Amino acid sequence: MSTLLAGRRVVVSAGPTFEDIDPVRFIGNRSSGRMGFAVAAAAAAAGAEVVLVAGPVHLETPAGVERVDIRSAAQLRDAVLAALPADVYVGAAAVADWTPRDTAGHKLKKQPGVERMTLELVRTPDVLAAVAAHRLRPRLVVGFAAETEDLVANARAKLAAKRVDLVAANRVGVPGSGFEAETNALTVVGEGFERALGPAPKAALADTLIELIAERIAGRS
Ligand code: C5P
Repeated sequence: MSTLLAGRRVVVSAGPTFEDIDPVRFIGNRSSGRMGFAVAAAAAAAGAEVVLVAGPVHLETPAGVERVDIRSAAQLRDAVLAALPADVYVGAAAVADWTPRDTAGHKLKKQPGVERMTLELVRTPDVLAAVAAHRLRPRLVVGFAAETEDLVANARAKLAAKRVDLVAANRVGVPGSGFEAETNALTVVGEGFERALGPAPKAALADTLIELIAERIAGRS
């Protein structure tokens, strides 16, 4: 336990979103939620009041954390914005970029002789950008970026495009990093700042990330 974030309110999003096609099918992704849950646990251990907005995952709520369960990207946006004002937002959720334009109220059946079907998708809200542009913008807005190549360049582009303060980029598709792994390796970038962390257990990375966040918050109060 520390007091690095005592008196601060931290909102964290974690896990995947599920975008429903019909009552039994959805579009999801392989996010386990572990990195975001580790960040929420680390923030609570540093003395913060923590709201964890969680997609559909099988993880225990960390001690001292208020958890709000959501399913879709739209629900995630609503829950995150409802949790403001806050000092810090950490967007660790793997939010779907696309959602079915219509969700069928009944199970879609296959029809004899029909060999193709088209699913029309529309963009989801960008929650991270919405938080960064909000009138109640937290002092520090932190994004995650899962990348398969050009890690730092893509993270820097995200920093600028979404107007966030830090982006923690992790390489996906390699063993020991990213989705479904217990460990991770992150490169954290900010304005005039770059730091490589790990490979290390997600809990250790989350502690370091919380230290970086606490330093920045202290510098801005
Ligand atoms: O643009 P990209 O999806 O790679 O950015 C990842 C970051 O943006 C993550 O922090 C994720 O939580 C956030 N994001 C979001 N809403 C979306 C898509 C991504 O908040 N619709």
